[in-house]
Amino acid sequence: MLFWIDLVLLSAFWVFGFSNPDGFLSLSCGGSSYTAAYNISWVSDNDFIATGNTTTVTYIEETSTSSVPIRFFPDSQSRQCYKLPVRKDLSSVLIRATFVYRNYDSQNQPPSFRVSLGRSITSTVDLRIKDPWTEELVWPVNKDSLSLCLLKVKGRGIPVISSLEVRPLPLGAYRNSLEGSPNVILRRSYRINSGYTNGTIRYPSDPFDRIWDPDQSFTPFHTSWNFNRLTRLSSFNITENPPDSVLQTARVLARKDRLSYTLSLDTLGDYYIILYFAGILSLSPSFSVTINNEVKQSEYTVTSSEASTLYFTQKRISKLNITFEKIKFNPQVNALEVYEILQIPPEASSTTVSALKVIEQFTGQDLGWQDDPCTPLPWNHIECEGSRVTSLFLSQINLRSISPTFGDLLDLKTLDLHNTSLTGAIQNVGSLQHLQQLNLSFNQIKSFGSELENLINLEVLDLQNNSLQGSVPETLGKLKKLRLLNLENNNLIGPLPQSLNRTGLEVRTTGNPCLSFTSSSCNNVSSTIDTPQVTIPINKKHKKQNRVAILLGVSGGALFATLLIFVFMSICTRRQRNKERDITREQLKMQNWNTSRIFSHKEIKTATRNFKEVIGRGSFGSVYHGKLPDGKQVAVKVRFDKTQLGADSFINEVHLLSQIRHQNLVSFEGFCYESKRQILVYEYLHGGSLADHLYGPSRKRLSLNWVSRLKVAVDAAKGLDYLHNGSEPRIIHRDVKCSNILLDKDMNAKVSDFGLSKQFTKADASHITTVVKGTAGYLDPEYYSTLQLTEKSDVYSFGVVLLELICGREPLSHSGSPDSFNLVLWARPNLQAGAFEIVDDVLKGTFDPESMKKAASVAIRCVGRDASSRPSIAYVLTQLKEAYSLQLSYLAASGHTDM
Ligand SMILES: *[C@@H]1O[C@H](CO)[C@@H](O)[C@H](O)[C@H]1NC(C)=O
Ligand SMILES: *[C@@H]1O[C@H](CO)[C@@H](O)[C@H](O)[C@H]1NC(C)=O
Ligand SMILES: *[C@@H]1O[C@H](CO)[C@@H](O)[C@H](O)[C@H]1NC(C)=O
Ligand SMILES: *[C@@H]1O[C@H](CO)[C@@H](O)[C@H](O)[C@H]1NC(C)=O
Ligand SMILES: *[C@@H]1O[C@H](CO)[C@@H](O)[C@H](O)[C@H]1NC(C)=O
Ligand SMILES: *[C@@H]1O[C@H](CO)[C@@H](O)[C@H](O)[C@H]1NC(C)=O
Ligand SMILES: *[C@@H]1O[C@H](CO)[C@@H](O)[C@H](O)[C@H]1NC(C)=O
Ligand SMILES: *[C@@H]1O[C@H](CO)[C@@H](O)[C@H](O)[C@H]1NC(C)=O
Repeated sequence: MLFWIDLVLLSAFWVFGFSNPDGFLSLSCGGSSYTAAYNISWVSDNDFIATGNTTTVTYIEETSTSSVPIRFFPDSQSRQCYKLPVRKDLSSVLIRATFVYRNYDSQNQPPSFRVSLGRSITSTVDLRIKDPWTEELVWPVNKDSLSLCLLKVKGRGIPVISSLEVRPLPLGAYRNSLEGSPNVILRRSYRINSGYTNGTIRYPSDPFDRIWDPDQSFTPFHTSWNFNRLTRLSSFNITENPPDSVLQTARVLARKDRLSYTLSLDTLGDYYIILYFAGILSLSPSFSVTINNEVKQSEYTVTSSEASTLYFTQKRISKLNITFEKIKFNPQVNALEVYEILQIPPEASSTTVSALKVIEQFTGQDLGWQDDPCTPLPWNHIECEGSRVTSLFLSQINLRSISPTFGDLLDLKTLDLHNTSLTGAIQNVGSLQHLQQLNLSFNQIKSFGSELENLINLEVLDLQNNSLQGSVPETLGKLKKLRLLNLENNNLIGPLPQSLNRTGLEVRTTGNPCLSFTSSSCNNVSSTIDTPQVTIPINKKHKKQNRVAILLGVSGGALFATLLIFVFMSICTRRQRNKERDITREQLKMQNWNTSRIFSHKEIKTATRNFKEVIGRGSFGSVYHGKLPDGKQVAVKVRFDKTQLGADSFINEVHLLSQIRHQNLVSFEGFCYESKRQILVYEYLHGGSLADHLYGPSRKRLSLNWVSRLKVAVDAAKGLDYLHNGSEPRIIHRDVKCSNILLDKDMNAKVSDFGLSKQFTKADASHITTVVKGTAGYLDPEYYSTLQLTEKSDVYSFGVVLLELICGREPLSHSGSPDSFNLVLWARPNLQAGAFEIVDDVLKGTFDPESMKKAASVAIRCVGRDASSRPSIAYVLTQLKEAYSLQLSYLAASGHTDM
């Protein structure tokens, strides 16, 4: 989607590029496209904004009747943004926006609203004061697109806009004397063509289409001298490049000894002033320049036939008095410009932005999260302090779990995820050291997890209305700042840890079966199936007959409970038996199809020495090392069936796995399905994973030279090629990544982990629509946005693996500069430009540039945004083989023998 917009912008830009030789972009907001005087093409703004209604308003000026288009924004959104393309080869552009109300809606209520450019709020437009209202902004180019937004002010009407122009400015212009502050936007206050009174000058006289206003309207008290004589100006050397016609006129002091401009300014602020001088007279006047009673230039000489400029910045002013005082001959000035200086606020960290974008994708909704999260206005659901995101509020969406990306929002003080269908344990929050408020209420969370104790600044923890079970962990007592712990309406039992009994901490416990600091408050707990281990309360103060009654009641209740439990259990056992019988039938069926074994849980226990050695952990569960009676080593993967998909899904997976045999796929040895335990047994590979080799201890890393990396890539591509093209049904792996590429002791690579795989038959359409699964950093962005799964998603992930092999770094890295945060975005332009400096340091000087070029070029094609333009894995494989043999011959030629 994003890409599509880029494409439209780009092509739109090119169209203007052709018909508008000057590179102008002129949007008629709410109007249609047409060509105006001097071949300036005005185009409809439809391709640049998706919202708003349009109309036309006609109004009468002193001398003419104007009919202008208008786009207005009646909907309730707080901001409406134009995305404007900008040429990146420019140093700055001029943005000119015109806002017209003129009672188009017959309501006689001119609106007021704010305007932002990029991250800065630049102006407040108030159409009661002036209508039409024009804003001109000089923006320092640092991106290839720019957002201009209208920001609604509550109760102040509907924003309107009539036209929007983007004009390239001369390279380096409007930067002099702004050193140390490159990050400013300049907002025009005045641009005066001194000494000229007959109308404005703009394109084509000024090729940059700045509008130079006539002099008289500002200071009618002074006479202007017109110089129609065309004077040749030598040494014309001004970066702002003012047009000749502007420099050809000057205001010149005649009889009095002072020449002054008194200009009122909109707002108290810092201003940037440029004075233009041209020696259009045959004499060379000398004069002093005073700004707001401060002499800025004591003796300034304008040499005949030379043009020159003076630049000043003036801080904290709300009016401006520029005075020229005579020293020799008559002072003069040819033009002047005054701009308000607007600071551009800092950007939110790229880690934060990426994490939020990933979270938005997880929500499956368009939250309208565009550009910067904090500026000009914080995104919906977010609060900021400066450029740091400190609060995140999400609710009534289906998050299901707190994904690891939440752990990247390190500045969070408030995290509110109430009513987001969270299940399982509280996880991935341990890194949020600044967190003060955590609201996870109204979910189905089952366990406290182990990370809460790290949230040392937590003040409020709201876990009400969840499915928390068992007892409250002692470790919550470590949260010394906690003042409210809400545990209402859960299934918690047992005494609360004494560590939570302290002044200043309120613990809410109602709506739990039995939860308090003392066990005596469990009096009212009746015997239920939930808590069969009833503690029989004996209250000494009760009279004897009461006690008997209670005992009778209790034992009656207990009897009833026991009965219930018995009935319940026998139903379960019967179900279990049925299920096991079903499984056995399945197993028998399966035995005919494949060679995989069925293990008993006891066999597994023996093989793993009672699950002694963990060799891996993942969202699916843990992987243990095991040894079968025949001495064969295996990896035993014990699944938690978190998805509750049950037997069918497991059997399907086993079925799928047992049909696949390929030398570059980790082979499946067998499985165990007993008492709901789902265990998969794979061959054990001694070499560990590719991730271990790339990022593990340096010893391993050094062993992976370029030729062995290419070998690994070729092997893995063979495995994937088999999944995509060799097997029937064809299989999309869905989780290709370095830690799923395993190596045997001879460094042959095999692809593993089909836990997320999806099979599809040729009869299926060319894609499958699914829920997004996979690993951050490897996920195909197109799959994310369209949910259309194709083999090309695997190709994308594999491209990321290739980039990792080339650059020796992980796909997402929080160290280094923000630009390098995302491997794909960082590596793509560098490798495209042949910048091999980004190749892994340990490879430098040992690779054949041709071989690297081939591998890099195929990697870049794999990670192309557009899935349809990515190559097939078969093509990738042939390219990698070629890169591999190039490197082999390079090594042979250079006498290397080590591989
Ligand atoms: C406008 O463009 C046409 C065709 O490109 C050209 O012939 C004409 O001279 C241009 N007019 C102006 C005023 O530049
Ligand atoms: C704006 O357009 C929408 C849809 O085209 C329409 O429903 C709405 O009535 C319009 N609002 C105004 C104020 O014209
Ligand atoms: C002002 O400009 C108009 C046309 O742009 C021209 O006809 C007129 O003669 C000019 N007046 C002077 C005083 O130069
Ligand atoms: C023109 O500008 C360049 C660079 O800013 C400077 O080196 C040169 O001296 C200038 N020439 C004149 C005649 O001012
Ligand atoms: C502008 O400044 C000059 C010199 O500092 C002063 O003489 C003059 O009165 C000032 N004009 C106004 C309108 O303040
Ligand atoms: C939770 O969200 C659902 C809609 O997703 C809504 O119907 C329900 O009222 C919400 N419950 C609470 C307690 O906010
Ligand atoms: C947490 O969110 C729920 C639902 O909106 C709200 O009722 C509760 O007051 C919040 N807890 C705190 C401590 O703000
Ligand atoms: C809480 O602690 C205080 C003193 O530390 C103690 O007197 C009180 O009995 C405790 N409350 C409970 C319910 O255990």
